[in-house]
Amino acid sequence: MDIKILPVNETKQPVKDESHLVFGKEFTNRMFIMEFDRDKGWHSPRIQQYGPFSLDPAALVLHYAQEIFEGLKAFRRPDGSIALFRPRDNFERFNLSAERMCMPQLDVDFCLRSLNELLKLEQDWVPHTEGTSLYIRPTMIATEPVLGVKPADSYLFYIILSPVAAYYKGGLSPVKIWVSDEYARVPSGGTGEAKTGGNYASSLYASTLASEKGYDQVLWLDSVERKYVEEVGSMNICFLYDGKIVTSPLCGSILNGITRRSILTLVDEFGYEIEERALSIDEILDGSENGRLTEAFGTGTAAVVSPVGQFTYKGRNVLLGNGKAGELTMKLYDTLTGIQYGRIEDKHNWVKML
Ligand code: COI
Repeated sequence: MDIKILPVNETKQPVKDESHLVFGKEFTNRMFIMEFDRDKGWHSPRIQQYGPFSLDPAALVLHYAQEIFEGLKAFRRPDGSIALFRPRDNFERFNLSAERMCMPQLDVDFCLRSLNELLKLEQDWVPHTEGTSLYIRPTMIATEPVLGVKPADSYLFYIILSPVAAYYKGGLSPVKIWVSDEYARVPSGGTGEAKTGGNYASSLYASTLASEKGYDQVLWLDSVERKYVEEVGSMNICFLYDGKIVTSPLCGSILNGITRRSILTLVDEFGYEIEERALSIDEILDGSENGRLTEAFGTGTAAVVSPVGQFTYKGRNVLLGNGKAGELTMKLYDTLTGIQYGRIEDKHNWVKML
């Protein structure tokens, strides 16, 4: 398929002062977009002006949330070149989410080509300061106007770009986490592994309560026993417990994080034993107090590697690391961002240059 490049107005310019960048509030001038319908398959791929599109008020996405998305980043290196981190993995995961949500598959090579074309046109928007990046959001929505609950016959796929700074306002200062005993992110057997908007919508109520109490994020426990750690809505979570790396297994209800995967490779190379096992909230609370748990950190495209400094569960408050990011957490942050920004050799072929 040929990608049409439509004329656009360069109405916006990248900010000069990158210290004002925040996460996900500003978008570039162009977006990639194409449509799907059952007769034609995917068609009309084009790069056009970023802006609102019209949707029928009955479009299925607006009623039954048939939607998926991805998040990946482009990094500006000191020599001006632009690096993408594991982009193929993101589009492969996108297809897994599509399958789970009964949406059409995409050709991964075509997606990568479309993204490259878009990035070439918008490359001035990749910010220059380390810690910033151009966040890439591929999205698919169900557009068929019908009120019956069923997989749609028509879809829109688009990619938008947003220059961003750190996801958490505090940058690398440890986040405070509220462990929800009452609410669950997804039920067992639900859509937890898919990157679909509904998982995030269902997290909002508890996140709002947590935020009102002064917490940055909610840690979700499994929905059956409300005992085992699953994930922190916007990131996977890892623990340094008894000197080993412990993280929840990919049990179907947590996201199969690409940063999680990269971090597990790195800790393995650093010589840590890895246990992908159910870790109970009691182990975390007791471990923080008796010294068996020494570090906890979240991993995610937006969050990168994010130190955790506090857990609160049913009124019990435990602190980790005296308000400072742990040594391993920092080493992982430095190694991962080093690979992304080109300071450290990419031995795994994770990086794809534009
Ligand atoms: C990402 O890390 O890219 C995500 O999609 C998480 C989102 C909550 C920002």
